[in-house]
Amino acid sequence: MIIITRSPLETETLGRQLGSLLKGGAFVALFGDLGGGKTCFTRGIVAAAAPESIHLVASPTFAIMNEYPGPVPVYHFDFYRLASGHEISELGFDDFFLGEGICIAEWSERLGGLLPADHIKVTFEHLGDDCRKITMVTDHADTQTLIDELKSLVNREEFL
Ligand SMILES: Nc1ncnc2c1ncn2[C@@H]1O[C@H](COP(=O)(O)OP(=O)(O)OP(=O)(O)O)[C@@H](O)[C@H]1O
Ligand SMILES: [Mg+2]
Repeated sequence: MIIITRSPLETETLGRQLGSLLKGGAFVALFGDLGGGKTCFTRGIVAAAAPESIHLVASPTFAIMNEYPGPVPVYHFDFYRLASGHEISELGFDDFFLGEGICIAEWSERLGGLLPADHIKVTFEHLGDDCRKITMVTDHADTQTLIDELKSLVNREEFL
């Protein structure tokens, strides 16, 4: 699934649409450009999955992980400052993967072999100005069904 967004609000809306479909245990792996919109997209997911925590969403660059309480808790990682999957597992962050909550990981490039096999890979690319190309893929059949549902939701709602 490939989508071009033309404003931060459109990216956040796409995140909200995905968030409305995610179940506990989901892993959303974010890749791509600095300033690509990963934190903005995460804010949208949290708006749908853990709305009472929306005001808490901020880049956890220094903390590495933020936890957002909600009906389904959301764990928001930013691995920019970590070197490798080895370092990430030494710090114990992988203990949260595939638990009860939804995991969203910025800079999933750093995860290497720690990346759970069943994940949604979301890649962000700058297309200049406020345009971003956002690509979502998965290797898992069930998760592909979820992406297909997202596609029809986006077609129904546009960017309202
Ligand atoms: N279409 C768009 N989608 C998302 N953000 C956009 C868009 N157009 C412009 N922006 C701007 O780009 C920036 C994206 O910031 P954001 O923190 O979400 O990126 P990021 O991928 O998390 O960056 P980092 O790699 O530093 O964590 C914001 O300043 C936002 O206002
Ligand atoms: Mg960020």
